[in-house]
Amino acid sequence: MRNIYSNIFKINNKNLFKAINYLKKKKLVGIPTETVYGLAANAYSTQAVKKIYLLKKRPYVNPLIIHYFNLEQLEKDVILNDSFYKLYKKFCPGPITFILKKKKKSFLSKYATANLNTVAIRFPQNKTIRKILEYLNFPLAIPSANKSTHISPISAIDVAKEFKNYLKFILDDGECKIGIESTVVDLTSKIRILRPGIISPSRISKVLNKKINIENISTIIKAPGMLKKHYSPGVPIKLNQKKAKINEAFIVFGKKYKKGKNIFNLSYKSNLKEAARNLYKMLRLIKSKNYKMICVSSIPKKGIGLAINDRLSRAAK
Ligand code: TXA
Ligand code: MG
Repeated sequence: MRNIYSNIFKINNKNLFKAINYLKKKKLVGIPTETVYGLAANAYSTQAVKKIYLLKKRPYVNPLIIHYFNLEQLEKDVILNDSFYKLYKKFCPGPITFILKKKKKSFLSKYATANLNTVAIRFPQNKTIRKILEYLNFPLAIPSANKSTHISPISAIDVAKEFKNYLKFILDDGECKIGIESTVVDLTSKIRILRPGIISPSRISKVLNKKINIENISTIIKAPGMLKKHYSPGVPIKLNQKKAKINEAFIVFGKKYKKGKNIFNLSYKSNLKEAARNLYKMLRLIKSKNYKMICVSSIPKKGIGLAINDRLSRAAK
């Protein structure tokens, strides 16, 4: 299909350098990661970071995740600890974000961290974004590339539809491999998961050799930005439903559900990884088909299922 969006660019050397130049000039770039598409800006520049908040209509109290290329670059801005090194060795680069203490001498714009003394950091795995980070002498502040309260984008077209021509440059690296946002782990004091993701609590527990709590995100004061209403697909959602009316979209999981026009199966094979990848895609599809109500069957509340249930319950709020 021909690309009808003039702000979407395919991956080649010329376009990678264009993206790099945009970022150097403190402009925003729509950028692929393995989890979801992001909206990138120079994390050391207040001028650049402010553009993210304006375009996303994001409250300034909601801090951003800073994306780094390597440890050497990270050490300039944050204080590292043992738990961090263990998890880094096992999972990075990859779909996991760490909350750490910020160094007093950090170069980060105060706007990127909402003036907190902690900072969320991540090493993305996607090859394109890694090439870009390698070329820059600053890290990138990258929230998901959607307007505040909308669901995250998993393709370049999702990003283009979200921001129209207000965003001039989006790199197209196909659909995101994972399809939901990274696991967020707080390592600043008591270790806890603030946002479940593909890397499940039990895998983190195993590496650290201790039990890890998942905090109810809506009660977290540490992340003032963890706003209750988040990931809203724009259609009301009812959770834990056994059936749906014919004019309602029914999101289900597993092969015990019959096929049907209004049935959207996250994974026939009951594979939670596949279900996570399909979640935002199906929510968007359902919205485009003009359904006025979404019912969701129960989805296993363990492993990656925790992340799926977290996103669905926030969407249902
Ligand atoms: O997969 C991802 O993490 C994607 C891709 C683009 O990397 N990014 C992403 O960013 O999901 P965003 O901004 O949509 O979500 C970041 C979350 C927010 O809920 C924010 O409140 C939280 O991380 N956060 C950021 N800094 C924090 C901090 N210092 N303490 C606690 N939470 C923090
Ligand atoms: Mg987001």
